[in-house]
Amino acid sequence: MRGMEKKLKLITYGCQMNVADSERMAGLLRQIGYALTDDLDAADLILINTCCVRATAEDKVFGQIGRFKTLKRLKPELILGVAGCMAQKEGANLIKRAPHVDFVLGTGQSSEVARVVQSLEHERKHFVDTSNVSGEIGAEVFPLRGGCVTTFVPIMYGCNNFCTYCIVPYVRGRERSRKPEEIFAEVEQAVAEGFKEITLLGQNVNSYAGGMTFAELLSAVDKISGVERLRFMTSHPKDLSDELIAAIAGGKNICEHIHLPVQYGSDKILRRMNRVYTVEKYLRLVEKIRAAIPNVSLTTDLIVGFPGETDADFSETLDFLRAVKFDAAFTFIYSKRSGTPAANFENQIDDELKHRRLDALMKVQNEISLEKNRALVDSVVEVLVEGASKTDEKIFMGRTRSNKLVLFAHGAERAGDLVDVKISQAQTWLLKGIRN
Ligand code: SAH
Ligand code: SF4
Ligand code: F3S
Repeated sequence: MRGMEKKLKLITYGCQMNVADSERMAGLLRQIGYALTDDLDAADLILINTCCVRATAEDKVFGQIGRFKTLKRLKPELILGVAGCMAQKEGANLIKRAPHVDFVLGTGQSSEVARVVQSLEHERKHFVDTSNVSGEIGAEVFPLRGGCVTTFVPIMYGCNNFCTYCIVPYVRGRERSRKPEEIFAEVEQAVAEGFKEITLLGQNVNSYAGGMTFAELLSAVDKISGVERLRFMTSHPKDLSDELIAAIAGGKNICEHIHLPVQYGSDKILRRMNRVYTVEKYLRLVEKIRAAIPNVSLTTDLIVGFPGETDADFSETLDFLRAVKFDAAFTFIYSKRSGTPAANFENQIDDELKHRRLDALMKVQNEISLEKNRALVDSVVEVLVEGASKTDEKIFMGRTRSNKLVLFAHGAERAGDLVDVKISQAQTWLLKGIRN
């Protein structure tokens, strides 16, 4: 019956959580006969899993949906669905704007995807459901995972923090934690499928409340045999506990890397962002982490151009970056999200200034990242091989425990191997080396 297999083209935007949701939806759709394809023309179903964290993310989705108009005209039986955060935010507006979209499914309803597609196979009509943003995400099906070495396991959904710039709590609903047994079973399944590295996911993993603390959960997953590397993200600085720091320090395969978004480096802006910590408190946390976990790498997220940001605030942020010396930082230009408090704040910053500040911020951080990477030249690092690099089949890529990207000439190793690489060259975003 292979010829009868229906084809699914899945397009995923946004964060790791969306990648994980897409894999779960692919798992559900597999149960009703859909196999993944990369070939758009062969697809019977196109599902776009969307992000709305910044306007640029939404623009990309609208562009993509627009491009499917012709395809849909040529092949009317094609089903086009939009899921994820932007689907949750826009709901029926998406169909109003693009009537060739067949269904819109909010984040809390992603486990309904197979039921919705089946009903559209029988009867074609527009379908929209964004009614329960905090809906349970089906645990009854194992995801159809992409890749073969590293993978994500969500431990909780939603966010209760309401940072004033952020749309996520509105489109992902309130925090819900999965049961530990469910998480363990999924990790065991992933390991059985051959995955070596597991990243536990949540908008704020430290508020995990599934009957044990996040530190306990992390330590328990660390004991599952076959988990060769264990990571987690994201940690909110306000609740990264001493217990978690101790768990990482004492862990077996828990990687020495913490992604700890600071968002900004001045108390005034942090307060207006509702981040509920001060620069001083963050710096003390960094000190504590570095004292407890040797060779820990720290990465962060920063937003420039938040309403009310002055030159003085910005220069405090540059000083802050120079003081902390993050291994890497993801830097974003503030994007006004309607419905969030900051969208109505006074003194919105004009685009030109935002871009100038972003450039200045990146310049400072890039120098620091390069300096940090240069310090690794001549050292030998353990790399988990992920496969051939994107540009050259003879070059392999992998990551260090500290999550740095390493490229090295391909020998006999295979994806999934842990190998020692001697670093010979450092760049801002990657290291190059030779097998040791
Ligand atoms: N829950 C995670 C990630 C949230 S989204 C956390 O709290 O860290 C990922 C990043 O997008 C955020 O860390 C933030 O830096 C950025 N971001 C969120 N809303 C934004 C906005 N309106 N404009 C620009 N960047 C934004
Ligand atoms: Fe958004 Fe803040 Fe929640 Fe992160 S912690 S998802 S930035 S509201
Ligand atoms: Fe992630 Fe974007 Fe949603 S960052 S949680 S996919 S809004």
